[in-house]
Amino acid sequence: MKKIALAMLFAGVSMMAADGKALSAKCVACHGASFEKAALGKSVIVKGQSAAAIEASMKAYKAGTQNKAGMGALMKGQVATMSDADMKAVAAYAAACK
Ligand code: HEC
Repeated sequence: MKKIALAMLFAGVSMMAADGKALSAKCVACHGASFEKAALGKSVIVKGQSAAAIEASMKAYKAGTQNKAGMGALMKGQVATMSDADMKAVAAYAAACK
């Protein structure tokens, strides 16, 4: 019973977390409010990229396989705790930024 309650709690938390805008709150300091900046003056600008491309980058950082500006480890830390659904939601939000 305890296990089920815990599983439901986690499911609830991750459902709430799959809100692209809320999840990207921590990205804006580096990437800009609408992902329009080169993060830390180093990254490729995310704004204007497709959701699929952004999601692929996030997954690659999580897997530790992307490191374009020597700052891949920093991005890995940003996405380490994000689920696939979270990353999809953030990618969709970022791609829709005007
Ligand atoms: C502390 C600053 C910082 C924060 C916070 C941050 N990023 Fe980044 N991001 C970077 C840097 C630096 C790079 C370049 C990494 C590299 O060397 O490949 C980058 C790269 C990226 C790229 C790849 C761009 C490209 O096409 O090469 C994406 C996508 C991205 N970040 C998305 C995000 C998302 C989404 C978040 C929030 C969950 C986030 N970032 C939070 C600094 C940050």
